[in-house]
Amino acid sequence: MAFKLPIYMDNAAATRTDPRVVEAILPYFTEKYGNSASRNHKFGWDSEDAIDLAREQAATLIGASPKEIVWTSGATESNNLAIKGAAHMYERNPEGTPGRGHIITASHEHKAVLDPCKRLQSEGFDVTFLSPPADGVITRAMVAAAMREDTILVTIMWANNEIGTINEVPEIGALCHERGIIFHTDATQWVGKMPTDVERDHIDLMSWAGHKMYGPKGCGALYVRRRNPRVRLEAIQDGGGHERGMRSGTLNVTGIVGFGKACELASLEMDSERERLLLLRRKLERELSSRLEVVQVNGHAERRLPQLTNISFGFVEGESLLMGIKDIACSSGSACTSASLEPSYVLKALGVGDELAHSSLRLSLGRWSTEEEVDYAIEAIVKAVNHLRTMSPLWDLHKEGIDVSKIEWQTH
Ligand SMILES: Cc1ncc(COP(=O)(O)O)c(C=O)c1O
Repeated sequence: MAFKLPIYMDNAAATRTDPRVVEAILPYFTEKYGNSASRNHKFGWDSEDAIDLAREQAATLIGASPKEIVWTSGATESNNLAIKGAAHMYERNPEGTPGRGHIITASHEHKAVLDPCKRLQSEGFDVTFLSPPADGVITRAMVAAAMREDTILVTIMWANNEIGTINEVPEIGALCHERGIIFHTDATQWVGKMPTDVERDHIDLMSWAGHKMYGPKGCGALYVRRRNPRVRLEAIQDGGGHERGMRSGTLNVTGIVGFGKACELASLEMDSERERLLLLRRKLERELSSRLEVVQVNGHAERRLPQLTNISFGFVEGESLLMGIKDIACSSGSACTSASLEPSYVLKALGVGDELAHSSLRLSLGRWSTEEEVDYAIEAIVKAVNHLRTMSPLWDLHKEGIDVSKIEWQTH
C-alpha cells in the first residue's frame, strides 16, 4: 500500500498546512518576531514588510488591491465583521427602532452567516432566509424576487461547505450593483480552489480563511471594496485602530505570512489541482453509484466544487456506516447538537429526508489526495454498505419490492 491509514478526506473542514507555507512562517516565530505596528526599529519593519507581501499575495489571488484586504482570525470573524459591520453602517433607521433595513441570505448558509443575521434580526433588522430548491443553488432570480425597497445587504455564500453547490454569485453581485445594494459572499470553500475576480464578479465584501487552503488555522481575510462603491463598515472591536480602524488588535504575523504564501501557491497551482481533483471526485461518485443501489449524490449535478461530494446511502444507519469506515476521515450528514444526533440542516433544507440525511457522507479531497486513496475509499465504503444492508430487515423488504416509506408500523 503506497499510502498511510487513516486516509484524509475531510479537506473541507481543514487542510494540511503545506510544508512550503510552514517554511515561510518559521522565521517569524524566532528571528523576525517584532510587532508589525512598531514603527521605530528593524523588528517592526521586518514584520510590516512581511504583512505587506502577504496582503499583495492575497489581493492577487482575488483580483483586488492590497489595501482592500482586512486581516481577521478566520471566516467566522470575517463574516461577522462584514454582515454586522455593513448592516450597522448602512441601516435606514439608526435609532434602534424596527425597520432598520432588510437583509437577504439563504437558510442553508454556514452558521457563521446565519447567526450574525439572526442577531441583526433581534436588533430590529428584517431578514429573508431564502429556501434553496432541491439542487441547492441560489439563483439571481430568487434574490431579485426577494429584494425590497429597504434592502441594504445581500449575503450569499459562493460554494456550500456541506454539498459543494455553487450559487450564482457573479450574477447576484451584478444585480446588487444595479440596485445599489451591498453584496457579501462567504467564499471560504471557494477561494484558492476556483478562479476569483472581485471586479468581474461584482463582489463588495468577501470572507475566506487560511486553513481551508493549505494555510494555518486562526487566520482569515475580509475583502472590503474601496471603489465603486467604497464600502464602509462599523468596527466590532475597538482598540488601536489597526486595519484602517476596521479590526483593531496586534496582527497575527505568523498566520498572515502563512496565509499569504498559501494564496501565492494557490494562484500558481489552482488550475492543475482543480482538474486532477475533479477526475478523482467523479471516479468516487461514478463507482459508488454504479456498484451500490439506492445511492444519492446530493446537490446540483454540475454546479459543484470539484473537490467535494456529499452522498447518501439508503438503508444503512449513519453511525454504523462511519464505524464501518474508520480508516477514512470524513464528515457525516449528522451533527451532534447537545446529546442527540440531528440530521444536517443543509440537507434538510434541500428536502432530503431524515434517514438519507443521517446516512450521508461528505468526502472532500485535497492537494495530497491520490487515486490509490480514492480506490481504497471506494472499496471500503462498498464493503461497509453491503455489510450493513445484510443486517437490515428494511433492506430485505425493499429488495422484495415493498415501498418501505408506506408501511404503517404498529406501536404498542
Ligand atoms: C463556508 C464556511 N464559512 C465559514 C466557516 C468558518 O470558518 P472559520 O473556522 O475560519 O471561522 C467555514 C468553516 O467550516 C465554512 O466552511
